[in-house]
Amino acid sequence: MEQGKDIVILAIESSCDDTSAAVLKNGYLLSNIIASQKVHEAYGGVVPELASRAHQQNIVPVVDQAIKQAGISRKDVSAIAFTRGPGLLGSLLVGTSFAKGFALASGIPMIEINHLQGHVLAHFLKEEGAENRSPKFPHLCLLVSGGNSQIILVKDHLEMEVIGQTIDDAAGEAFDKCAKVMGMPYPGGPLVDRLAKEGNPDAFQFAKPRIKDLNYSFSGLKTSFLYFLRDRLKENENFIEENKADLCASLQKTIIAILMDKLVKACKQTGIREVTVAGGVSANSGLQNALRAEAEKRHWNLFIPKFAFTMDNAAMIAMTAHYKYLKGEFAAMDAIPFARMNIQE
Ligand code: KG4
Repeated sequence: MEQGKDIVILAIESSCDDTSAAVLKNGYLLSNIIASQKVHEAYGGVVPELASRAHQQNIVPVVDQAIKQAGISRKDVSAIAFTRGPGLLGSLLVGTSFAKGFALASGIPMIEINHLQGHVLAHFLKEEGAENRSPKFPHLCLLVSGGNSQIILVKDHLEMEVIGQTIDDAAGEAFDKCAKVMGMPYPGGPLVDRLAKEGNPDAFQFAKPRIKDLNYSFSGLKTSFLYFLRDRLKENENFIEENKADLCASLQKTIIAILMDKLVKACKQTGIREVTVAGGVSANSGLQNALRAEAEKRHWNLFIPKFAFTMDNAAMIAMTAHYKYLKGEFAAMDAIPFARMNIQE
């Protein structure tokens, strides 16, 4: 890197159903545009083919807006970063292809990013006028999203190890699938969160897994929730409508208890008290309250991301790219996306 030269990263995130572009200058976020796709609501889940088509429509205006809002010109960009995986292959291809075209046209390097590392490193983003705290190493990150539930030992910016993970469904999937059974639209997580605030969390009891080590399981809870409703609906066809808030509160309480149990165990086992949370489910108000309570009780130094950084966003991709840029880790022009990737790939 040339001494004194600004590092300006333009990043693209297109791994699932949000098209996002961000500009980061010397670690400071200048813009983070996210275009969410509404087209999937009618289908109760993300339809991969529709997602890639929507990414294709969104990507040029989203990048254009990110550059304009950042107040930079295309010529100022030092490198373009893109999410290589994990995610939906067609969606990832849109971002990867766009990045290649942009890199070739501008004569700048490309940086490929692991989406999971991005979530973890969102805590290092700096914004003008903000407090800008960031966790020390090593720390533990509870990564909870629609596709992942993991406890990650973060040793350095680009050195991470998964020490616990789900053996079946992710926490976000548990929220979404149970919400679907209650007749709610996709994604159900935020709706369950909202309704849970009006309900009694002790109204109903659902199955909790007995999994060894630091691993998670949510499929048993989903089945227990489904069978519970099936039996109650036989007695009262309005059971869901009459008990929706209590059902949401009890379901949310169970999911949070499962997540917190292993996180506390991981902190005890490693002796680490520096704790972060990341991913879409980290926006859950009940989970945030549980984390704060545990942090106070156990003297954790806790980091909760701001809302825009909980969901899929290009800001976190740009942050990860900044560290890779500093190490000179650039992608080859024949880089291809991967649907599956581990945290350390
Ligand atoms: O990280 P993310 O945006 O992307 C994917 O993994 O695709 O996470 C999305 C997940 C969905 O399952 C959604 O229901 C869940 O995060 N989610 C929530 C909340 N906000 C988003 N779950 C519970 N409470 C919330 N407030």
